[in-house]
Amino acid sequence: MRQAGRYLPEYRAIRERHTMLDVCGTPDLAAHVTLQPVQRFGLDAAILFSDLLLPFVPLGLDLEYVAGEGPVVGHPVRSPADVDRLPPVDVAEAMASTAATVRMVTGALGSIPLIGFVGAPFTMASYAVEGRSSRTHARVKAFMYTEPQAWHALLGRLATIAADLAALQVGAGVHVVQVFDSWVGHLTALEYRRFVEPHSRVVFDRLHALGVPSIHFGVGTGHLLPHLVRAGGDVIGVDWRTPLDEVATTLPGVALQGNLDPALLLAPRPVLEDSVRDVLRRGTAAIGHIFNLGHGVLPETPPDQVQATVDIVQAWSSDA
Ligand code: CP3
Repeated sequence: MRQAGRYLPEYRAIRERHTMLDVCGTPDLAAHVTLQPVQRFGLDAAILFSDLLLPFVPLGLDLEYVAGEGPVVGHPVRSPADVDRLPPVDVAEAMASTAATVRMVTGALGSIPLIGFVGAPFTMASYAVEGRSSRTHARVKAFMYTEPQAWHALLGRLATIAADLAALQVGAGVHVVQVFDSWVGHLTALEYRRFVEPHSRVVFDRLHALGVPSIHFGVGTGHLLPHLVRAGGDVIGVDWRTPLDEVATTLPGVALQGNLDPALLLAPRPVLEDSVRDVLRRGTAAIGHIFNLGHGVLPETPPDQVQATVDIVQAWSSDA
C-alpha cells in the first residue's frame, strides 16, 4: 500500500521534477517509481504506480493534485445532468499508458508478481461528487439519497470503467488486482447493500471471469466485511482496527490481507517487532494471509522502519 509514496527520498526526487499526473501518465517514469521500493527493500510483490482517480481525466472532471491537499476535481458531479454529460470512455485508448507501464514493469520484475489496482465505484463516486477528500462524505451521501436514479447511473458508469481498467491491466500482465473501496466504511450495511454492492460486484465478476485473483480492501469496514465478501474478492483487506483472528472467526474460509497500523512504523523497534509478529500470528487463523499494512505508508515514515518490517515478515515466512 503506497509503497512508492512520499516517504521515499528517491520518489520525492522524481516528484520535484514532474507532476503527479506526468509520473502516472509517462510509462518510463511510472515503471521506474513502481520498481523503487522493490529494489530498495526486497519486497515479495510490487504495486503498480498509478492513482485511483486517473479515469477522471477522460471523464472530463478536471483532475489535479494540489500540494498539501491531494486530489482536487475542477468539475465535480453535482446533479443528474452532470451524470448525463459524462462522455463515453474507451479505457483501452484513454489508459494506454497504464498498460505500457505494466508491460515495462513485468518485464523488469521477472518472477516477482505485480499487483494492479482500480477504485471501487463508491470511492470513485465520493471524489467525483465531493470534489476532494472529505471527512464526513456528506455531499456524496446526500446525492445518493436525493437522486437515487442518477446515483445508480453514476455508479454503473464507474463500475464499467473500473472493470475495463482492471481487464486492461490483466491483459498487460498484472498477476492480481486490488480493488480499493477506501471510504465505503462510512456507510451502514443497509446503505451498502442498496446503493453500492451491485456495482462493486460488476468489477469482481469481470475479474473472476478473467481468472485473475482479486483483493477487496476498505478502511473502517469491520461492520461491512460479510457484505464485502458477498460483493466479491478472493482476499479481503482489513484495516488495523479489527484483529485478523477475530475476522477469521466470523468469516471462516476467507483469505485475509493486512493489517498492521501504519502508525506502528513510527514506534520504537521492539514495539514494531512485537506488533508485526502479532499480526503474523493472528493471520494464521485464516485459510490464507497476505501481510500488509492496514492502510497506506504515512509520509513521515523512516524508510529503515519499512526495511525492518519486511525483514521480520520474511524471517517469519522462512521459519514457517
Ligand atoms: O505504491 C504506490 O504508491 C501505489 C500507487 C497508489 C497511489 N494511490 C499513488 C499516490 C495507490 C494504490 C493509490 C490508491 C489511492 N489513491 C487510493 C486508495 C488507497 C487509500 O489511500 O485508501 C485513494 C483514495 C487515492 C486518491 C488519492 N491520491 C489521494 C487521497 C491522494 C492524496 C494522498 C495524501 O496522502 O495526500 C492521492 C495522491 C497520491 N497517489 C500519492 C501517491 C504516491 C501522493 C502523491 C504525491 O504527492 O506525490
